[in-house]
Amino acid sequence: MKQTSIFLTGATGAVGAQLVQQLTSLNIGFKALVRTPAQAEQLNDLPNVEAIVGDLADPTTFENALHGVERAFLLTNSSEQAESLQIGFAEAAHRAGVGHIVKLSQFAADESSPVRFLRYHARVENRIKELGLPYTFLRPNLYMQGLLAFKEHIKHHGQFFAAIGNARVSLVDVRDIAAIAAAALTGPGHENRTYDITGPEALSHYQLAETLSHVLAKPVNFIDVPPGQMEKALGAAGFPEWQIGGLIEDYAHYTREEASVVSDAVARVTRKSPIGFEQFVKDHRFLLG
Ligand SMILES: NC(=O)c1ccc[n+]([C@@H]2O[C@H](COP(=O)([O-])OP(=O)(O)OC[C@H]3O[C@@H](n4cnc5c(N)ncnc54)[C@H](OP(=O)(O)O)[C@@H]3O)[C@@H](O)[C@H]2O)c1
Repeated sequence: MKQTSIFLTGATGAVGAQLVQQLTSLNIGFKALVRTPAQAEQLNDLPNVEAIVGDLADPTTFENALHGVERAFLLTNSSEQAESLQIGFAEAAHRAGVGHIVKLSQFAADESSPVRFLRYHARVENRIKELGLPYTFLRPNLYMQGLLAFKEHIKHHGQFFAAIGNARVSLVDVRDIAAIAAAALTGPGHENRTYDITGPEALSHYQLAETLSHVLAKPVNFIDVPPGQMEKALGAAGFPEWQIGGLIEDYAHYTREEASVVSDAVARVTRKSPIGFEQFVKDHRFLLG
């Protein structure tokens, strides 16, 4: 095994699960903070993995495990607590002498953005810089995997919806985000870099529907809805109010075509072509078809 000292947060989430898989397939060991003994048991079954049961809300549960760590991966979901959880982790990492933080941020993070997610990500980034911790900020665009939230609708009703109009977004596959994270956690040359991470092209949701129809060989329609309707649907699905507000702001930002730039980060960092939307649909055909 290659000797590195890596610490992961968010290892059970969408990007984190892919990162775990990629590090494991490279035979690289790591520690991972998880919240339940059942999650720890699953990770401890992997070679050279040490799971720590704790919570980002309580640094005493993970601070000792940070001693001797060279690089840490920081990710949480976007919640009202995300900013303080992430800053708390960065401060604990700083106290423990962690050498480098790889933080999962978001495309267009900016303290003065009208999008709350982009503001909190920028505040966490700026706190990490202020602490003087070497960093790599990963700023991915909309996840292709987000579409899987509609898998039952696509499968049974041939439709999905959002408040985005005809705007194009350079959406990205989380496997490519994880590949960049793995590179930043294990290789040289990523210190104090910010990577905008996108897929290979900017596509409208109508174009996504065309590709879905073509690959799944059945009609799939995109339905543009007003933000109020999307808000109601998110409420009915049980999302917390703060997060609903953030998603509505996010989609307004996409609608303004502020997330249509295509970056070459995936190819530059991983030396592989980014996964296109057609490939994503083929790989998830069993869920969507
Ligand atoms: N979705 C998009 O299109 C998109 C686009 C760009 C950027 N992003 C950013 O991506 C991030 C979310 O990534 P993701 O989808 O991979 O996340 P995710 O699937 O929602 O997973 C969140 C992870 O954070 C862990 N976590 C949350 N609170 C915790 C706590 N208090 N202590 C310890 N662990 C905690 C969760 O653990 P449990 O398993 O215990 O819950 C889980 O492993 C957000 O910051 C978002 O802004 C998302």
